[in-house]
Amino acid sequence: MSITRRQFVAGSAMLGAAGLLDPALAQASLNQITIPSSGQRLPGIGIGCRNYRGGPGSEEMPVFRDTFATFHRLGGKIVDTSPNYGNSEEVIGNIMAELGIRDELWVATKVDRQNRRAGIERIEESFQLLRGEQFDLMQIHNLRGVDSVLPLLFEWKAQGRFRYVGVTTSSDRQYDELERVMSDQDLDFVQVDYSLGNRNAAERLLPLAQDRGMAVLVNLPFGRGRLFNAVGDRPLPDWADDIDATSWAQVFLKYVMSHPATPVPIPGTTKPHHAEDNVNAARGRLADGNLRREMEAFIDPLLA
Ligand SMILES: NC(=O)c1ccc[n+]([C@@H]2O[C@H](COP(=O)([O-])OP(=O)(O)OC[C@H]3O[C@@H](n4cnc5c(N)ncnc54)[C@H](OP(=O)(O)O)[C@@H]3O)[C@@H](O)[C@H]2O)c1
Repeated sequence: MSITRRQFVAGSAMLGAAGLLDPALAQASLNQITIPSSGQRLPGIGIGCRNYRGGPGSEEMPVFRDTFATFHRLGGKIVDTSPNYGNSEEVIGNIMAELGIRDELWVATKVDRQNRRAGIERIEESFQLLRGEQFDLMQIHNLRGVDSVLPLLFEWKAQGRFRYVGVTTSSDRQYDELERVMSDQDLDFVQVDYSLGNRNAAERLLPLAQDRGMAVLVNLPFGRGRLFNAVGDRPLPDWADDIDATSWAQVFLKYVMSHPATPVPIPGTTKPHHAEDNVNAARGRLADGNLRREMEAFIDPLLA
C-alpha cells in the first residue's frame, strides 16, 4: 500500500505531536534551509522570545517551559532572543538548562551598544545568562553599534565564540542603512520584518541577501498578531490545501518560507499549542509564484 504526500505530512506531524519521534528524527522530518556561508542545514522554522511576564518565579513559567519543550521535541532548533527583551535571556537560559537542551538548540542573541567596551560587557552578560561557551549567531540589534561593535563580532567569530554574525532590523526606516551594511560587510545572516502583511523587505533586501549569500531570519511573521486580526474567524481558503496548511498561522509562515531567499520565520509564542502549530508549518509544500500572488490578493483588502 502506498501513502500519499498529504498522508505522510499528516503522519509525521502526528508522530511528532505525540512525542513518538526522537527530537533529532523530528528535526530531520522538517523542511530545511542551507546557510550559504557554511552549508549548514537547519530546520526552516525558529522561535522568537520576549520579556516573560513575572520572570523566573512566575506562575506561568511551566507553560513557558512547555512551549520550549514542545518546540524542541517536534524538531525546532533556532531560538532568537535579545538582552533587550527584559528577562528573556535569563528565562530562556534557565529553561534550556532545566530541560538539558542548551546544546541541542541553535541560539541567536543580539547586542546593541554604541561602543566597544559597553558591547563587550553586554555580550559577556549574555554568555552568563544563556550559559554555554558559544552562541550560534550574534546580531547587531536594530543596527545599533554597526560601526563600533560589528568589528568585535567578527573578531570573536574568528576566535570561535560565535559561529555566525548578523544584523537585525524590524523597521522600514532602517532599510536604506541595512542595505548599505549588507553591501559593505560579509554578514552570515540578516534579520528583517517580512510577512504577508508587510512585504517591503522583498523589494531590495531579500534579493540582496540572495546575491550576497546571506541567510535570512524573519521577525514579525504575523505582524505582531495583526494578520490574525485581519482574517478573524474566516475559514481557510481552498488553496491552503495546496500548501498543506491546516491553520492561518501556517498559511502566514509558509508565505514567508516560500520566498526564494528561503527566509526562516521566528514567530514569538508563549503557548505550547502555538509552538506545535508553528513547527508544523515547516512540513509539506510551499507556495509557488502564482499562489503567492493569490495569497497577497486575498490579504490586501482585509488589511486595507
Ligand atoms: N529588531 C529585532 O531584532 C526584532 C524586533 C521584533 C521581534 N524580533 C524577534 O522576532 C520574534 C517574533 O516577533 P513578535 O513575537 O513580536 O511578533 P510575531 O511573531 O509576528 O507575533 C507574535 C504573536 O503571535 C501569536 N502567535 C504565535 N504563534 C501563533 C499561532 N500559531 N496562532 C496564533 N497566534 C500565534 C503570539 O501569541 P502567543 O504568545 O499567545 O502565542 C504573539 O501574540 C520575537 O520574538 C523576537 O525574537 C526581533
